[in-house]
Amino acid sequence: MTEDVLEIEGGTPLIGEIKLRGAKNFVSKAMVASLLGQGPSTLHNVPLIRDVEVVAGLLRAHGVAVELDDAAGTVRMDPGGVELAQSADIAMHAGSSRIPILFCGPLLHRLGEAFIPDLGGCNIGGRPIDFHLEILRRFGAEVTKEPGGIRLQALERLQGMQMELAYPSVGATEQCLLTAVMADGITELRGAAVEPEILDLVSVLQQMGAIISIETDRVIKVEGVEEMHGFHHKALPDRIEAASWAAAALATGGDITVLGARQADLTTYLNYYRKVGGRFDVTDRGIRFWHPGGELKSIAVETGVHPGFMTDWQQPLVVALTQAKGLSIIHETVYEQRFGFTKALNAMGAQIQLYKECLGGQVCRFGRRNYLHSAVVSGPTELHGAAIEVPDLRGGFSHLIAALAAKGRSSVKGIGLIDRGYEHFQDKLQALGAHTWRV
Ligand code: EPU
Repeated sequence: MTEDVLEIEGGTPLIGEIKLRGAKNFVSKAMVASLLGQGPSTLHNVPLIRDVEVVAGLLRAHGVAVELDDAAGTVRMDPGGVELAQSADIAMHAGSSRIPILFCGPLLHRLGEAFIPDLGGCNIGGRPIDFHLEILRRFGAEVTKEPGGIRLQALERLQGMQMELAYPSVGATEQCLLTAVMADGITELRGAAVEPEILDLVSVLQQMGAIISIETDRVIKVEGVEEMHGFHHKALPDRIEAASWAAAALATGGDITVLGARQADLTTYLNYYRKVGGRFDVTDRGIRFWHPGGELKSIAVETGVHPGFMTDWQQPLVVALTQAKGLSIIHETVYEQRFGFTKALNAMGAQIQLYKECLGGQVCRFGRRNYLHSAVVSGPTELHGAAIEVPDLRGGFSHLIAALAAKGRSSVKGIGLIDRGYEHFQDKLQALGAHTWRV
């Protein structure tokens, strides 16, 4: 964890406009898809975040020419020279992200083999890759665990397959798509995830020549093709970042216009925002979120896969719920350990209790497995500044929001982690009138 520290003098409502760019959880996958094309691809609306740099580094290590234009938010990728990467180059990126696992299918198609370093990413649960490996094996890949990563080989062309996911995993669905598009024959994935970021990846793959149909009841069918070409695409906006700033507006009693935010990707979030008592206004330029004054109301919310309430929206909203009157109940059903960040909130004056039971309408996968995956927030509580440490990306942003809402000074350590997913967040904080200093 980085030692970077941000000092924050809280208690000032965040007011102003910030601009959203493309979704972190789509952009990185579209960059991986470029490996499949015979010609160059161009992606627009690319945010300057560390995950993008990591994928650019991994692509370059595999012989892809990558040109990143930060100011324009464009990345051009030419996979003409794709080759196996040197272990040392891959190792440089090992442990920094979860994206490398998605290189498997494209590299197997292009080169017949791949080495994937051990994965990083946020520590919010076990985050196994069993679905990914099962998918790759079913396509016909040989998968071997080696020190520092996994080696994959395809001795002949991968074959389409049928499979049902035990859980609609985003990454496993993407793994399947990125592999099925050039596998021989038809692939049918049941129990697939259908998040907007996945549908945007389908658009990119379709532009490249893939034949993919999204059917009812989470079924995706792919007819493999022999050759694919480059794409030209504008990434969908980052609906997690939009929701994070919306929560910041609520928690600080502020008024933030998120330029570029798209209502259709935030429908479920907006319903809860309204129930809590937050106000929003959708315009051609984006969405304005604000605290109308008066009391916020407590809510019960259960996270889930799309079109449910995203797990990534949960952490920032919990901070706002510390300011709502009464008991709010949150049941986290996607990750078993996504409430670690509440410890710091309690140290700042919040009253959040964690439970192993499923405090929601449904019994989830974690119900009988001893994980503290439900939370009860009682409010409103006055938050006061504290020395806190960023635990993970979304939890870290939530800590920032808490520090901004709190009375007095906070010192937030490890803010480098937030650069993974929030573009220029310190500039945006300044633009919204926050009092922050980098130490
Ligand atoms: N799972 C398995 N086995 C697998 C894969 C997943 O058991 O092989 C489980 C996970 O442990 C988890 C659940 O399935 O309990 C859902 O995981 P999923 O695969 O859907 O998540 P992911 O693809 O690893 C992406 C985002 C996450 C986001 C989730 C859910 C990226 C790089 N990450 O993760 O984003 O929370 O989907 O929407 O796209 C973030 O941005 O901060 C973040 C964590």
